[in-house]
Amino acid sequence: MPLAPQDAAKRAAATAAATLVQSGMVVGLGTGTTAAFLLGALAARVQDGRLRITGVPTSHRTAAEAVRLGIPLTDLTADIRVDLAIDGADEVEAGTLNLIKGAGGALLREKIVACAAQRFVVIADRSKCVQRLGDLAPLPVEVVSYGHEVTGRRLADLGGTPILRRDSTGAPFVTDGGNLLYDCRGFAPIDDAIGLAERLASTVGVVESGLFIALAAEVYIGDESGAVQILRPDR
Ligand code: A5P
Repeated sequence: MPLAPQDAAKRAAATAAATLVQSGMVVGLGTGTTAAFLLGALAARVQDGRLRITGVPTSHRTAAEAVRLGIPLTDLTADIRVDLAIDGADEVEAGTLNLIKGAGGALLREKIVACAAQRFVVIADRSKCVQRLGDLAPLPVEVVSYGHEVTGRRLADLGGTPILRRDSTGAPFVTDGGNLLYDCRGFAPIDDAIGLAERLASTVGVVESGLFIALAAEVYIGDESGAVQILRPDR
């Protein structure tokens, strides 16, 4: 069955970025539907012996899929040098290439792996491109579960409209790190992403936000025809 147009665009971006991966690399493996196409592209080369890599997964979900596909994995330890990390995004801001991530609930590990990598490359379809962060997506903020309602009030004091994320059963969504997530729409439009990231980082109870500032070296934007545009930040 042919792919839906958006999935074809995601696959185009993922397939193009997969060509950056060379034998011997340690590669951060992102989470989400776009990253799933990356895993598929890498696995095809791993399985027929053309590619020897070690993956650093950004979520339990990605780890399970990598194992299923036969991609060797390692933990992120001090002696590991991550050559390249490739991941999806929920929003990509024009010019800065600052990001919102976390719709899949994996923002904390994703940010740790992206920051550890020598090079961080984002893969997305054009629907993720925005003029200003917050135009489309809520900003996910990961918080410790203890006292989370108090932390949620602090997020509201900062201007957010925090909604506790829930899973399909209606229970609070628990991240791989055992934390909770508040999806915040009220910050939009985010004119001062650096300032907001700093205010969130200094809020007690907050573990990490989905603002990825000045991390992406390149963004691969796929379209359904298979064409890919490579964006670099205006810095
Ligand atoms: C996971 O927590 C997210 O940061 C994903 O990377 C992001 O939501 C992109 O996911 P899709 O590729 O499924 O849109």
